[in-house]
Amino acid sequence: MAEVIDLGEFGDAFRTDPHPVYAKLRALGPVHRVRPPGSDGDYWTWLVVGHKEARAALADPRLSKDGSRIGVTFLDEELIGRYLLLTDPPEHTRLRGLVSRAFTMRRVEALRPRIQEITDDLLDAMLPLGRADLVESFAYQLPITVICELLGVPEMDRTEFRKLSTEVVAPISSQSNYDAVVRLAEYLTELIEDKRCAGPTDDLLGDLVRTTAEDGDRLSPQELRGMAFVLLIAGHETTVNLITSGVHALLTHPDQLAALRADMTLVDGAVEEILRYEGPVENATFRYAAEPLEIAGTPVEKGDPVMIGLTAADRDAARYPAPDRFDIRRDTGGHVAFGHGIHYCLGAPLARLEARTAIRSLLERAPALTLDGPSGDWLPGMLIRGLRSLPVRW
Ligand code: HEM
Repeated sequence: MAEVIDLGEFGDAFRTDPHPVYAKLRALGPVHRVRPPGSDGDYWTWLVVGHKEARAALADPRLSKDGSRIGVTFLDEELIGRYLLLTDPPEHTRLRGLVSRAFTMRRVEALRPRIQEITDDLLDAMLPLGRADLVESFAYQLPITVICELLGVPEMDRTEFRKLSTEVVAPISSQSNYDAVVRLAEYLTELIEDKRCAGPTDDLLGDLVRTTAEDGDRLSPQELRGMAFVLLIAGHETTVNLITSGVHALLTHPDQLAALRADMTLVDGAVEEILRYEGPVENATFRYAAEPLEIAGTPVEKGDPVMIGLTAADRDAARYPAPDRFDIRRDTGGHVAFGHGIHYCLGAPLARLEARTAIRSLLERAPALTLDGPSGDWLPGMLIRGLRSLPVRW
């Protein structure tokens, strides 16, 4: 059995900049046994760090997301209900079918003018200030407003919601994580009840309450809560970091910023490079071996946890030459920032549209945009990669 590499031994440097650690691991091989920082007891997981191996693992049906196949119940499942990222086919196929019916390209495309309008309003409010925390004033506000409007979440305490959802994806402790999931479950239960009572509404959650497939299938109340949970959390915790890390990467690479400013048609490619270079999802959500298998020649036993390193895969020199260079014109084809296979991100078209609109509009309206002192901390944990704050002036 391979030795366990304790990632906690790399200290705070691993949270601030995990790329050199992943590079060391990749140099040793594509798959390792690791102990994530702050793990309880003698917990360990497999970690896949090679690009080719990560893509294969993401598409491997033997790597399951359904705890019941290995006799485990996850906290989210107990408190919220089963949702897309906790299920395998055929249950996953059924849930995804019901939501993609409501979450169509047409609905996303129809949001384009509204996304531009929200972006313009946020910039109208921020730009007269001369300096701001980009996360607080812009990068967080855009995706949370869009996802709330899309789902039809009328008024919510966004400060509280932000605290709770950040705690869900980047927990400070297991107790605070538990408390946050409990509070979100209560909140979502009330929200869905209100939707049910409200009569027909022209929003995604209203659609989901009413969605019935041709065979009469529909989401149960627990499934609805799970769906609302994954859409609300995934719908903004990631996009806020795509915008923030993108602006950070551009401001710390003046040649790339100048190239983009000189030719804004490069913005689509720039967003793909931001996804590859500093993707918001550092490691995919957990999978477990539902049967014994080999990953890149390494034997993995039934029940073993497997983490797939998206950030690590997207900096693999075997796929991307000079992978640590931020280059908005490079070929980013095949990056795994949105995952791969049946769990490929449902919100990828929306996230791309938001990030392209946000970055283009910000650069156009703030020609002298620059960093304003040190950035905030990088978020803890190995799931989400993002800055807590990004002070800028213009
Ligand atoms: C930059 C922004 C985003 C990134 C980087 C991202 C990344 C990802 C990744 C890596 C996965 C797969 C996880 C795995 O296989 O373990 C995923 C799944 C998912 N994402 Fe996103 N996401 C983003 C934005 C969004 C948005 C805006 C929404 C919704 C509005 C969304 C909804 C979902 C859902 C529902 C799934 C689960 C799909 C399934 O299991 O079939 N995401 N996302």
